[in-house]
Amino acid sequence: MRRIHVIGIGAGDPDQLTLQAVKALRDTEVFFLLDKGEVKADLTRLRRDMLDAHVPEGTYRVVEARDPERDRSAGGAAYSPAVGDWRSARADVYERLIAEELGEDGTGAFLVWGDPALYDSTLAVLEEVLRRGAVAFAYDVVPGISSVSALVARHRTGLNRVGRPVQITTGRRLAEGFPEGVDDVVVMLDAHQAFRRYAGQDGEGAEDLDIYWGAYIGTPDEILVSGPLAEAAPRIERLRAEARERKGWIMDTYLLRRRTPEQ
Ligand SMILES: C[S@@+](CC[C@H](N)C(=O)[O-])C[C@H]1O[C@@H](n2cnc3c(N)ncnc32)[C@H](O)[C@@H]1O
Repeated sequence: MRRIHVIGIGAGDPDQLTLQAVKALRDTEVFFLLDKGEVKADLTRLRRDMLDAHVPEGTYRVVEARDPERDRSAGGAAYSPAVGDWRSARADVYERLIAEELGEDGTGAFLVWGDPALYDSTLAVLEEVLRRGAVAFAYDVVPGISSVSALVARHRTGLNRVGRPVQITTGRRLAEGFPEGVDDVVVMLDAHQAFRRYAGQDGEGAEDLDIYWGAYIGTPDEILVSGPLAEAAPRIERLRAEARERKGWIMDTYLLRRRTPEQ
């Protein structure tokens, strides 16, 4: 039976690779690296560096493949079908890779950024491949340090206040409104700086929020900003635009924390 490891590799710092991840890397014969457009070169290099550092040369093969493009123009009701089509196109690619590149008893691995359980479709795509029934395999998941854990560690703060909930959401959702019933909200996948709406910059009043923001966390390009949102927002916008221009891509995450009387 073919085996697949889905390995969380941390969110940018090679030292975030866990011992469990290193064991799984050493147990792998074929690594599948899927290219991701403009961020491809940097992220593929990091993955290859990890293999160079931890897996004896000559014991593995790397197979690179093109990740199907997602229709990013689809918004509103069209968003979920667009993601569904994209997953299905990825399932075609994964199915072919597993069937053609892995022997009947071979072991392959997908190296997943951060933690495979958080805003990543690898597990859903593998389940779709299994459902189709054309190729059989067993798979396991090695958890990784997510960008969320890395963000709060770098800011030396917790995710939640005592006994309170925390919500992890997307920029797209935050742009629709601040989540109800929570004072701590982590925002990922925000291409449009949805926090501006709450900083008093888009014609609405500023909310009583602090922000803990980080870009390229754990890498040599890391940028961290924290403070009252109304003050920090213009600075973040400027730093973000400069960094994006310089590198050609950006990955940022932030925690919005409502100031409460007991703080
Ligand atoms: C497709 S999600 C993948 C998340 C990943 N599975 C994780 O556990 O962090 C990509 C989003 O993760 C966040 N992200 C990932 N790595 C990051 C980093 N090094 N610095 C800041 N944000 C990061 C950004 O919000 C980015 O838009």
